[in-house]
Amino acid sequence: MQTAKPNHDEEDQLFRLLRQLDLASDASQRALAAAIGVSLGRLNALLKSATDAKLVKISNRKGADNRQRFTYSLTSRGCAEKIHLTDRFLARKFAEYDALHAELTGTTSTLVPLKHRTIMMENNLAPITELYVSYDSAEKMKFEAAQLPSWDLTARQVCDLELLMNGGFNPLKGFMSQADYEGVVDNMRMADGALWPMPITLDVPKSFAEGIEIGQDIALRDPEGVILAVMSVTDNWTPNKAHEAEKVFGADDSAHPAVNYLHNTAGDVYLGGPIIGIQQPMHYDFRARRNTPNELRAYFRKMGWRKVVAFQTRNPLHRAHQELTFRAAKEAQANLLIHPVVGLTKPGDIDHFTRVRCYEAVLDQYPASTTSMSLLNLAMRMAGPREAVWHGLIRKNHGCTHFIVGRDHAGPGSNSQGEDFYGPYDAQDLFRTHEDEMGIKMVDFKHMVYVQDRAQYEPNDEIEDRDNVTILNISGTELRRRLSEGLEIPEWFSFPAVVNELRRTRPPRAKQGFTVFFTGFSGSGKSTIANALMVKLMEMGGRPTTLLDGDLVRKNLSSELGFSKEHRDLNIRRIGYVASEITKNGGIAICAPIAPYATTRRAVREEIEQFGAFLEVHVATSIEECERRDRKGLYKLAREGKIKEFTGISDPYDVPENPELRIETESSDVDNCAHQVLLKLESMGLIGA
Ligand code: PPS
Repeated sequence: MQTAKPNHDEEDQLFRLLRQLDLASDASQRALAAAIGVSLGRLNALLKSATDAKLVKISNRKGADNRQRFTYSLTSRGCAEKIHLTDRFLARKFAEYDALHAELTGTTSTLVPLKHRTIMMENNLAPITELYVSYDSAEKMKFEAAQLPSWDLTARQVCDLELLMNGGFNPLKGFMSQADYEGVVDNMRMADGALWPMPITLDVPKSFAEGIEIGQDIALRDPEGVILAVMSVTDNWTPNKAHEAEKVFGADDSAHPAVNYLHNTAGDVYLGGPIIGIQQPMHYDFRARRNTPNELRAYFRKMGWRKVVAFQTRNPLHRAHQELTFRAAKEAQANLLIHPVVGLTKPGDIDHFTRVRCYEAVLDQYPASTTSMSLLNLAMRMAGPREAVWHGLIRKNHGCTHFIVGRDHAGPGSNSQGEDFYGPYDAQDLFRTHEDEMGIKMVDFKHMVYVQDRAQYEPNDEIEDRDNVTILNISGTELRRRLSEGLEIPEWFSFPAVVNELRRTRPPRAKQGFTVFFTGFSGSGKSTIANALMVKLMEMGGRPTTLLDGDLVRKNLSSELGFSKEHRDLNIRRIGYVASEITKNGGIAICAPIAPYATTRRAVREEIEQFGAFLEVHVATSIEECERRDRKGLYKLAREGKIKEFTGISDPYDVPENPELRIETESSDVDNCAHQVLLKLESMGLIGA
């Protein structure tokens, strides 16, 4: 550098400026100053001397930001200077360390300066860029950020942010800009051409987006209000969600969990921009098992693991998985990383607490010196082929060189026509197309099955004598059936320790909690049948039973709500929440609201099915019959226009398409209707002898 010799403080500030510009060149001056830990005045002086020295270039900002007209980015000389300053800083620290070591021990330290070590380092083992600022800067930024408009992140966004900040989503530097998003949706490429298959967007409601200007910083908080990061908003747009669904998930079909999320949970507007990480989200569970990409890379370095094959999973490990992982490690001549997802997986999956206990129970089946297990806080999208490529890139960032892709990787199940969204090996095909560019190799496997005659697992397509041997397999659905009915799960299929854990979480259905959810017009008979059912269940005993009747809920839980769509949805979600808690704790919840909207009923179903069965009962009394009965005199008032938004008269009702049970009340009495529900519960194994 041509400038006068800087003292160490100045050199340090310059280094931090260059580092921040490299991380987030779009960040506002305010965020930049806070991240570096200097005043705005000092920042300007630093920027001036850096531009004079041609380390930084100034360009006009694109977009409509009227408060911040310029962006600053590193020149190639700036990039070189950053590396140079890093080396000098480290050399200084090593010298200080050596001096201290000598003073304390009288000998020189045996530490090898990092520079010498990095030369030897494999790409997958060198440290990866994180988006966090230093501890001191983070402390300062936290106070600054408290004044900013803030966004409370959703559960999915917290997962995304964690992987953005810790380098798991490298090369992403923040939530995607519109140009990156469009490139990713249409061609799986960022605006600069980098391969990236999954949109990582900050979705917010329109009402929030309207208050945010381009160029403004916003604080990103976790659900408890802790500030995790600051984002400089560069983009704000309304996405075409149907197009996103078609391109990314292959169909705009709400049977796909991510498409359902896109349309019914995600906000209508996306904000994009670089982020500056302040702190990682807090996890209180399995802390020792969670590792950032850099922690895993450091571990592999320490252990001398140069080749590592990662196994992604959202299910407990059974014997077939063990065989598959052993074979993969052998094939790639690599060490093995079991890398299960503990963020968000497919609705209805076994909770991650149970799964981690299952993984821990089988870890001793693997040689400790060659295998490790780490938990990944990823929010899966179940996007099959695109997801496989995404998973591969994430594992590369975590220091792995190989990645296992089996049959139906990250498959979402069937579409609304009952057919699979993706072919069983589509994920392998897409991965193969991009493998060279990705920097991580695929270890592909066909379906593993048990060959009884040889008492071992083999890939289904490699069994040449299949006509002369007995091939056994237990599907996920069959396993769930055996668990829920308390049936035997053979040792060839799984490990006794795993089965024990699963049985603890999933006791037989007759001992689990469940929800009966009645839906139908006002006056259809929901409450009457629900009351009769409750009495019959209480007569049987065994599980605590609660009735959440529409009228009672509106008196106690939702007394401030009216009957707009928004209020009805809120009312049903509250009922769903209470019912899910009851179900989780082994009780029976009987709900009897009108619940006119199919999407809200589905959301409630998904919430409850994590914990136990959900039985939707459509009380299918026609609107004409309800109006004829008019037990509360409300239909008359609705016809006269004295009650607005009355379901069936002046407000919609989505008739359930596939309820577990449909009851016609016009031809049967209440006792018989309640009995039909009991029979259904019995056939589902929810009430036993
Ligand atoms: S919703 O849509 O599920 O939130 O409705 P819900 O809470 O079940 O409704 C409870 C009772 O409110 C009475 N009521 C109305 N129903 C429909 N539309 C309008 N506008 C309305 N205003 C009052 C109605 O009697 C519902 O009771 P039930 O038990 O269904 O007869």
